[in-house]
Amino acid sequence: MNAKIIGIGKYIPEKVLTNHDLEKMVETSDDWITTRTGIKERHIAADNETTSSMGAEAAKRAIEMSGLSPEDIDMTIFASITPDMPFPASACLVQDILKLPKTATVDIEAACSGFIYGLSMAYAYIASGIYKNVLVIAAETMSRFVDWEDRNTCVLFGDGAGAAVVSATDNPDEGFLGFKLGGDGFYKDFLYVPAGGSYRPANMETVEEGLHYIKMDGNATFKVAVKTMANVLDELLIEKGISKEAISIVIPHQANERIDLAVADRLKIPREKFFLNLHKYGNTSAGTIPIALCEAYEEGRIKKGDLVAFVAFGGGFTWGASLLKW
Ligand code: ACO
Repeated sequence: MNAKIIGIGKYIPEKVLTNHDLEKMVETSDDWITTRTGIKERHIAADNETTSSMGAEAAKRAIEMSGLSPEDIDMTIFASITPDMPFPASACLVQDILKLPKTATVDIEAACSGFIYGLSMAYAYIASGIYKNVLVIAAETMSRFVDWEDRNTCVLFGDGAGAAVVSATDNPDEGFLGFKLGGDGFYKDFLYVPAGGSYRPANMETVEEGLHYIKMDGNATFKVAVKTMANVLDELLIEKGISKEAISIVIPHQANERIDLAVADRLKIPREKFFLNLHKYGNTSAGTIPIALCEAYEEGRIKKGDLVAFVAFGGGFTWGASLLKW
């Protein structure tokens, strides 16, 4: 049994924070942010919105598009590094919001690679015959983990959610063609939130030192990201005997436009095949791929039979690629 995506949905909070707004908050400029990252604006969750509330809205839209009813969902997987709280899982919170059946619910944490990891798990559960319909959600409220006084990081991130319903199919002309995932904990200090866990529980000192905020070695991360994203997609294509020319569209993780264009150039895949929307949303971590997938679909860039490639890289470091016949 194979698996395919039968429904997608996204939720973007209303409030927009532009580069010009950021010029009033830290020493930066629209020109610096645009030329170094490609980002023009990002969306910020309202006070009453959370990672699970945004994820639930995206999930609701994905289930609607799938034509299934909520009772058909066998499992909910929620990818996030900014959950509402350490536990319970955001998947449980969404289950409660949407009144989903009392089936398997689990959160996964693979930073910006979370959605591809989630799809691979959905695929594995379906291919093994355990479940038929798996809901994969990826949502982030990065704005609550960003130090708004640190220009190195605060200009990069945004909030948002995406979701997909993954379902069983026995049609050989559609569905997932493969996954390749990886991780390397050597890079654990390159991109992380130092405190707030069992290593350094939150206290006055950690808060005063700002250790509950995202820390990143941007330059080093950039270099590893380009090389690793290009390699993982290339290796998957070779493993599956699929040519680069066969790819209809690449939906990459959207951290920095320069990273994605460098990956395209390295792979010798035309830049136009890389769908980019980070100028509007910034880096929504696990959320970028499902949000971009929705927009590409809404814009008519993905049609039945197209070969869609996903590729991601994020904190951990983690990375992954997947190929899907739409
Ligand atoms: N405005 C103006 N100047 C800035 C800003 C800013 N917002 N931020 C940094 N600068 C300055 C730096 O201080 C530095 O100044 P200096 O030379 O006087 O020291 C200068 O600009 C250049 O800094 P670099 O770090 O060399 O800039 P770079 O071209 O590498 O761009 C960036 C920085 C955008 C962070 C880039 O490195 C990047 O995108 N890195 C990868 C991010 C990523 O992929 N993350 C992984 C996914 S995220 C996740 O998993 C949650």
